[in-house]
Amino acid sequence: NLLQEIENLENLFTVDAAKLKQITDHFVGELTAGLEKDGQNIPMNPTWVMGFPDGDEQGTFLALDMGGTNLRVCEITLTEEKGEFDIIQSKYRMPEELKTGTAEELWEYIADCLQQFIEYHHEEGDLTALPLGFTFSYPATQDYIDHGILQRWTKGFDISGVEGEDVVPQFQAALDARKLPIKLAALINDTTGTMIASAYTDQSMKIGCIFGTGCNAAYMENCGSIPKLKHMNLPDDMPMAINCEYGAFDNDHKVLPITKYDTIIDENSPRPGQQAFEKMIAGLYLGEIFRLVVVDLHENKNILFEGQDISKLRKPYTLDASFPAFIEEDPFENLQETHDMFREKLGINATKPELELCRRLAELIGTRAARLSACGVAAICKKKNIESCHVGADGSVFTKYPHFKARGAQALREILDWPKGKKDPVSILPSEDGSGVGAALIAALTLKRIKAGN
Ligand code: BG6
Ligand code: GLC
Repeated sequence: NLLQEIENLENLFTVDAAKLKQITDHFVGELTAGLEKDGQNIPMNPTWVMGFPDGDEQGTFLALDMGGTNLRVCEITLTEEKGEFDIIQSKYRMPEELKTGTAEELWEYIADCLQQFIEYHHEEGDLTALPLGFTFSYPATQDYIDHGILQRWTKGFDISGVEGEDVVPQFQAALDARKLPIKLAALINDTTGTMIASAYTDQSMKIGCIFGTGCNAAYMENCGSIPKLKHMNLPDDMPMAINCEYGAFDNDHKVLPITKYDTIIDENSPRPGQQAFEKMIAGLYLGEIFRLVVVDLHENKNILFEGQDISKLRKPYTLDASFPAFIEEDPFENLQETHDMFREKLGINATKPELELCRRLAELIGTRAARLSACGVAAICKKKNIESCHVGADGSVFTKYPHFKARGAQALREILDWPKGKKDPVSILPSEDGSGVGAALIAALTLKRIKAGN
């Protein structure tokens, strides 16, 4: 019966404090392994962002932000006032077909958006070549800051002709073909951008996180603690931002409490075996996990929506994370809004007990995501012996998914054993849309470094 099934789901999706601690400890080991050598689960990519801005950065920069859902172009002027900037920006939709198209189509589309932006905001000829910071939020191997070889697509992207290639010449060629007065100065990750932008206005910010379509974090490491860079003879105390790419944590399934639904998501994804952690917690997958459970309960256990036509639910990825989020937010005791949504969107007439099961399921999936997400942040704090700091966070799950922040904070308390009733020493704070500013700042830092000759 339904009550029994709710209990089964609770057992399946609940991650208690002991398990969170075990996961975090394993996480610390994987972060460390990634710094040691290439080819580990977590890549720990050096970004060549070597230090935080000091607030004196100046100039006008373009920032291009290719996220999971949107493409954003910004023009950012870092003013003489320390820590202040002016920004103009336009958002473009990332067309779904692009995500599985060809490299050429991708770069053409991006260059078109940049061209539109420039034509809209500038008179012809009033522009001298602008440096651009490109936030390319996928794992890239970088030997210097204005280059990056795509290791693999993540977040459901599957564009041919880019994996294993340097994305910068491909991108620059599309700009040059349009004679756009733009020169790529830095290729960065959204987590690095978020960290640098948040630190610009709050010096306690030590980590940048994204909880969105994908999940990942960046933090500042010392070169002396990055054995895989030893051969470069960099000073031990030189800072180096590391883009962890920790969505790939536990790809060999040693500690994560993987359910049969997670396995289906992985097997049906364009890159099976990769991004194990991300596939359990990131926005791209939350609605799909929900859908898979509901279909299973209907089809194999015959206990949900009996006798109803659930054909609309059969298509993978029909539900995005806003679906369970909406259910969690239904203010009515009888779950009226959820009822109406099931009817309007899916043609399903749900009974009260069925709606209650769906509500509990949404809570369980959302809570698991928030609690597991906290393990990554806790692991960085443990690895770096950070006792207190701020963490800048962005992404649709962090900003929009109900209770995500509170559930994540609660999990951090449990993992790091903070005493009750005191202010949390580590807090995850919103740094919305920061990565554009971060890209501009990093472009400015890079040009400053080149000017200074190092
Ligand atoms: C945006 C940042 O606000 O959030 C992007 O500017 C980032 O750089 C994005 O990639 C992540 O969120 P989502 O939900 O779009 O993946
Ligand atoms: C995926 C990407 C990573 C990005 C994250 C958040 O994990 O691989 O580069 O930071 O999503 O957008």
